[in-house]
Parts: sequence; structure tokens; C-alpha cells
Amino acid sequence: MSRPAAASLPTGLGAIARQNGITFGAAVQSGLLATDADYAAAFRREASMVVPEWEGKWGALQPTEGEFDTAPLDGILAWAKAQERLVRGHALVWHQHLPAWAEEALGQGPERATSIMQAHIRRVLAHTRASIRDWDVVNEVIADPPGSDTPQAGDLELRDSPFLRALGPAYIDEALRMARRADPLLRLTLNEYGIEEDTPAAAEKRRRLLALVRDLLSRGVPLDAVGLQGHLQLAKPFRPEPLTALITALRQAGLSVLITEMDIRETADAPQELAARDALVNERAYAFVSTALAAGVRTVFTWGLSDRYSWLTTDPSVAMPAPRTHRGLPLDASFRRNAMWEALRRAFAGA
Ligand code: XIL
Repeated sequence: MSRPAAASLPTGLGAIARQNGITFGAAVQSGLLATDADYAAAFRREASMVVPEWEGKWGALQPTEGEFDTAPLDGILAWAKAQERLVRGHALVWHQHLPAWAEEALGQGPERATSIMQAHIRRVLAHTRASIRDWDVVNEVIADPPGSDTPQAGDLELRDSPFLRALGPAYIDEALRMARRADPLLRLTLNEYGIEEDTPAAAEKRRRLLALVRDLLSRGVPLDAVGLQGHLQLAKPFRPEPLTALITALRQAGLSVLITEMDIRETADAPQELAARDALVNERAYAFVSTALAAGVRTVFTWGLSDRYSWLTTDPSVAMPAPRTHRGLPLDASFRRNAMWEALRRAFAGA
């Protein structure tokens, strides 16, 4: 049996992006790759790169102190190797998905906190050194200013977290330095959300992020890239200029900038007709990605590929009021190419 000619296969977003010097990837879940053939086929067709949706988080990798479980992550690494796809890592130090033992240990004084961070980062990076060359070392470290969706202490520049309480702001320096020592050529990324749109809260978060990274770099703390998560909301206005200014300033500071987790939340009062809903998603996705690419972003990830398994469908904190579900990813719940697919194709083709 001969294989179908390459030209007869539908060209995926990964290939379209690559023709234009861009890398396109998506967050993947190990279990679904193994159990849902349509899901696995979608990743083979569309994604040049993958990032584990949960398999790289602390609670997944070290559920019990000293006992590492890399099986779910290894499932993704094996798939990626077989399919010749690259993998990025997410996330070493994050206030969420921390097992109770780690939260408790972080409260037992700075020495103990440093020692568990060190052990976790060392062990995980030793494991992924040959396969993952870019990790989100610190995730979501900036405090949400007032006016964001998630309430936070408004006068804190950094998010209140067990790491901040244990070590103060230096936990960020420590995590980055530990990662550099553990894997000296690894790209060290700081990942952040709620920073892309044209709202006063996002503007304040942009200011806080720039102040933080300039401070880190001025003190010689190792940092190579900033990830903008790109969890967009149609309820919030978007304008290219603030995003362009942020990306430009980060690049002028010597950092790469990636879009790491893009998806789009529709509004609760979205139009009834699919065509009208999709037009809004298409317009926002194109505006966002084309702006990012024009400002020098070269890597774009969506947070999943299909609405079927998206956290925008399954997580009540971000889902649409039932029975409707967000149509905020490149493929709909039946793995059909959707409005965002077309917007990304157009943005990649024009880059
Ligand atoms: C989300 C996953 O998609 C969910 O399945 C999980 O329940 C919670 O985490 N920002 C991040 C990601 O950095 O790790 C989050 O992923 C989405 C928001």
C-alpha cells in the first residue's frame, strides 16, 4: 500500500506557520493522545510543537515528597519523539497545582522552601534535559490589579503565593538561577496572563511585568523569554497598540516573546447564530495574532486544539453558561476547523 501524497493531505496550521518562519503548537493531554484517535490525529495534523496541559505541573510530577511520577509527561515525550514534534515545558514554579505537602513545606521557613524548590527543579530538568529546551520556570507571578477578574491584594506587585510568603520576591530569582544551574542552555521563560487587552487592569499588569523583568535583568538574574498566555475575552476591548508596545519593550530588553496559551472566551450574551459568534472570534484572533507577529513574536501556542476538551468547556470558572460552550479554539467540539483556525491561517500566511 502506498501512502497518500503529501500534497493530498490537508495542510495543518503547524505547516502553514513553518512556511512563514513561525512555530505553531498547542497544549496536549497525555491520556487523550492514547485514547481518542480523532484527538491524536488533530495534533498530528495541526501542531508542530506541544506543551503538556497538566503533566509538567508540580502536583503531577511530585505528588509526594521525593517520589517523582513522570509517566504522564513521558507519554507526551514519547509521542512527540515518534511524531518528530518539539515540546515546551509548563510549569516549574506556580501557586496552583501544588500538592499539600509542598504548600506545607514552603511554610516551614526559607531553608526548607529553598531546598524543596531546588530538589524539584533539579530533578525535573535532569529528566527533561534531552527533550525539552524551553520551560515556563515561573508562572503567573504578577499580582492581579483591581479590576481584573480574579480578586487580588491590589497594592501587591507580586501575587501572594506560598513561594512569595516563604522567600519574598527573591523566590523568582532563585527559581531562575536554579533552572539555569540545572540545565545551562535551557530557555528560561516567565509566563503571565491578563496582560494583553486594552483594560486599565491589563495596563497596570503590563507596567508591573516590565518593571519586574527590567529589575531581574539589571541584577543579572537569568531570563530568556516572556510568555504571554493569551487567554482572551471578547468582553474586554483589544487594541493593537498596547500589545505592540509591550512586546517591543520586552524585545528591546533582549527577551524573546511567545504566545503560550491562546484561547478566546465569548461573552455570556453572545449572538445566537454560530456565524455571528464565529465572526467575532475570527476577528479577535486575527487582530491579536497578527499584532503579536508584527511585533516580533515567532511562536504561538493555543491552549488545546479542540473545544471538546478545552478548559473553557470543562472548567466552571471560565465556561460559558450552559448549554452553550465557548468556540474559542482552532477546532470545534467535533474537530472541525473553526473560526480561529481560519484567523490563525490568515495571520501566519501574512507574517
Ligand atoms: C489549566 C488547565 O487547562 C486545566 O485543565 C486545569 O484544571 C487548570 O489549569 N493558565 C495556566 C495553565 O498557566 O496551566 C492553566 O491550565 C490555564 C491558565
